[in-house]
Amino acid sequence: MNVAIILLAGKSERLNNDTSKQFIKINDKYLFEYSLSTFDSIKDIDSILLVTLKDKISFVKDIVKDRYNKIIDVISGGKNRQESIHLALEYLKQHQIDENDNILIHDSARPLVSKEVITSCLESLSIHDSITSAIKAYDTVSIVKDNKVIEILDRNYVYLHQTPQAFKFLTIYEAHSIASKSKMYDKTDDVSLIINQGKEVYIVDGDVDNFKITTESDLKRFIKMINK
Ligand code: CTP
Ligand code: MG
Repeated sequence: MNVAIILLAGKSERLNNDTSKQFIKINDKYLFEYSLSTFDSIKDIDSILLVTLKDKISFVKDIVKDRYNKIIDVISGGKNRQESIHLALEYLKQHQIDENDNILIHDSARPLVSKEVITSCLESLSIHDSITSAIKAYDTVSIVKDNKVIEILDRNYVYLHQTPQAFKFLTIYEAHSIASKSKMYDKTDDVSLIINQGKEVYIVDGDVDNFKITTESDLKRFIKMINK
């Protein structure tokens, strides 16, 4: 079984807007629905679990009612992204997920995810237990502390992670359980939890258009792209 967890429990603190980004209505639908409708339309995706802010659960349920086929539930997220994912995994554990089921985790803040990237993640999961989509860095990337460049990374080895990220259920569930027991909170990317356990994570090609909306200029770029 292939289950997608779509995250919409963030507060968009870096976006200068009254409404959290996932709930901004653009053209005919809310921002979170762009990636949701892509996941929902893929034959190989069996179920979708939505994670949102506690006080938005009924709002989200109302929006998605009768419009999407694969949503199993809309649940409350946590105080950071890692906790939201952990809560989703605990929910799935309570609802008879199999250890070998495939879990895809996606940020609703990446509305332009393509069917191809989702399918590549699923294909790669038949070989590996942990996958992230990623794109190669074309700019030079450095480590900076107090405005001072400490180190330039070799660009040939630098990739920028995106979502979806995909995992065997047991692999990602264990990684989250261990991280929360050892009080390792607020990792912005699940890959670090897997790597911390000494396990391997492989990449599949992401997509430059699958950028994350973080700031106002990202939002403008998205609006421009869908209206062109
Ligand atoms: N997210 C979540 N639960 C949280 C925090 C984030 O589900 N407690 C989700 C967001 O909804 C988003 C994704 O994780 O789809 C990526 O996070 P980010 O871009 O950082 O979104 P926000 O946390 O909302 O933004 P900011 O960090 O600027 O507050
Ligand atoms: Mg955040």
